[in-house]
Amino acid sequence: MLSVDGLRVRYGSLEVVKGISFSVREGEIVTIIGANGAGKSTTLRTLAGLLSPYQGTVMFRDRKIGGARPYNVAALGLRLVPEGRQLFPDHTVRENLELGAYLRLWRGERTGVAKDMEELFELFPQIRPRLDQRAGSLSGGEQQMVAIARALISQPRLLLMDEPSLGLAPMLIQSIFDALIKLRSRGLTILLVEQMAWLGLGVCDRGYILESGRFALEGSRDELLRHPRVLEAYLGKTPRS
Ligand SMILES: Nc1ncnc2c1ncn2[C@@H]1O[C@H](COP(=O)(O)OP(=O)(O)O)[C@@H](O)[C@H]1O
Ligand SMILES: [Mg+2]
Repeated sequence: MLSVDGLRVRYGSLEVVKGISFSVREGEIVTIIGANGAGKSTTLRTLAGLLSPYQGTVMFRDRKIGGARPYNVAALGLRLVPEGRQLFPDHTVRENLELGAYLRLWRGERTGVAKDMEELFELFPQIRPRLDQRAGSLSGGEQQMVAIARALISQPRLLLMDEPSLGLAPMLIQSIFDALIKLRSRGLTILLVEQMAWLGLGVCDRGYILESGRFALEGSRDELLRHPRVLEAYLGKTPRS
């Protein structure tokens, strides 16, 4: 579904993503684990069309999208849930969700959107009672749920998630990651970036370890969870001898 080859991204003369290649197949959760500053957000923002690659190709659903505009990438079915949620704080939750659905509403899919909203309230029951509240008045966890719901209501094929756990209490993190597993079982494909390795590796099928803009390791979930370097540097365990 997504195939990235030799991607390089720069801010001015500063190279931050230094030639990474990876793929995401339909129905998978793929995770990119990396410390603060490794280049995770830069990678996702490039895939979403918010930054232009300096070099490399990005193919999404058999189309070349490297350097394409965010609107066009979104219309193909790729959606970013950005780091820090990025809701419109002074608008209601309902308005934020409708913004996610604008393309469908514009196409006249009002009934379909209403039906999908109901499904989202089943996935995140916390949202419904808050529909008419200002998004900025919600807790961090509730805002993250709204941000995910806003992306889902557009019916994406591939969801890019940038550190959904950031700043959230453990219980809320759990409900968000439970939702990701449910979404995969419904056929959604997810590319998740996380600083908290155990969270990303816990839900993924495959993963990549990003260090200073390069992949240090890649493998299946089990391979990475067993890898001495992952255990030591990312999971805080001493490898067994
Ligand atoms: N707009 C920007 N201009 C210049 N440097 C940036 C910009 N955004 C991020 N960086 C730098 O790029 C590196 C990677 O950032 P980022 O992709 O946000 O990392 P991560 O999401 O893994 O924490 C960091 O060193 C950061 O300081
Ligand atoms: Mg980031």
